[in-house]
Amino acid sequence: MNRQEEVELKRGLRGVYLDTTESSNVIGDVGRLIYRGYDIHDLAERSTFEEAVYLLLNGRLPTQAQLDAFNTQLKAASALPAPLLDIIDRIKHAHPMDVLRTAVSALSAFVPDADDASHEAALRKGVELTAQATAIVAAHHRIRTGQPVLAPDPSLNHAGNFLYMLLGERPDEDTTRLMDKDFIVHLDHGSNASSFAARVTASTLADIHCCVASGIATLKGPLHGGAAEGVMKMALEIGEESNVDAYLEQKRADRERIMGFGHAVYKAEDPRARHLREGSRLLAEKSGDPKWFRILSKVEERMAPYAERGICVNVDFWSGSVYYLLGIPEDLFVSIFALARIPGYVAQVLEQQDRNILIRPLMHYVGPMDLEYTPIEQRG
Ligand code: ACO
Repeated sequence: MNRQEEVELKRGLRGVYLDTTESSNVIGDVGRLIYRGYDIHDLAERSTFEEAVYLLLNGRLPTQAQLDAFNTQLKAASALPAPLLDIIDRIKHAHPMDVLRTAVSALSAFVPDADDASHEAALRKGVELTAQATAIVAAHHRIRTGQPVLAPDPSLNHAGNFLYMLLGERPDEDTTRLMDKDFIVHLDHGSNASSFAARVTASTLADIHCCVASGIATLKGPLHGGAAEGVMKMALEIGEESNVDAYLEQKRADRERIMGFGHAVYKAEDPRARHLREGSRLLAEKSGDPKWFRILSKVEERMAPYAERGICVNVDFWSGSVYYLLGIPEDLFVSIFALARIPGYVAQVLEQQDRNILIRPLMHYVGPMDLEYTPIEQRG
């Protein structure tokens, strides 16, 4: 296309419908999120992560027998190949997201049918990756802190095992349930940047390890998954409830964004925030350390006028404080998001593959044309 011709530009693909999906529905103006027809509030209150993953990947809630078989499949997959632990050990000082992305890529070397991108193979490998990724994040943290890597405890569920393998203590029922809810609400979210990246990769018929690695790479940035870490950094920087107003005033004067607010689609409160706000409140009460909950509550209260501009609290605002109060180091926050989102990538990759079309938008070239090539010795 000639640069003089007019094109309809949609920068960032904002407002563009890419395809149809049956996976999740983000209703931004009223703050609703649906997985396969079920409201996430219902799923967060009444289901488990394992059930919600089964739903997302298979399109319907499992029977007890199907759920039992799925749990067995997940648990069987969580042992990591020994050479992978060596790789993690070699790169243990890197950011946990870099370690996760690298380890997911490396795992394809241990899968006999790594190149098989069929629906059945991608689904099986996707379920395995869901379990393996959890073991990777936990193992990396144990290795980098000089602690032994723990095998999963078969008596614990997925969320409980994650906390156990990471922190070395079997979590109580409330804590396990909170982690479970956190995983459920992060599972899938329409055409978010990282799921879109996974879809683009899938559209080339690349295998599932490539697709999930693309998703993880894209999730790392602070405008996407990295915000939870930013929120807790902000709370620590604020330090005391009495500093909140001055802190926000300074941010406003510097025209800096407040982490944990605003969303590309939600112009009302992010429905996921509710469950984590409540979790944060309960944890603060239980631990007898209400300081961070109070600071963040005050930030949320003072940010209320922004709602008029559609800048409302998002999921990351409260998830960071939940992880912090669970004793999880801040650089692991975005990895936890990734662990929950991996089955979401898998669901969207399967959907893409089942009705594939190569995703290939256009770029409107606005650079110069017809320049004359100058030999290198004549360039000034
Ligand atoms: N604090 C202050 N102002 C904000 C914020 C914020 N958190 N978010 C948006 N704005 C303002 C922008 O400065 C801009 O103002 P202007 O028009 O005066 O320049 C206006 O709102 C629109 O901003 P955009 O970046 O165009 O809006 P977009 O919808 O693209 O932003 C985003 C979405 C990237 C999430 C943004 O709100 C942001 O940077 N938030 C902070 C980071 C964050 O919390 N990310 C997590 C997102 S949720 C998730 O990934 C799970």
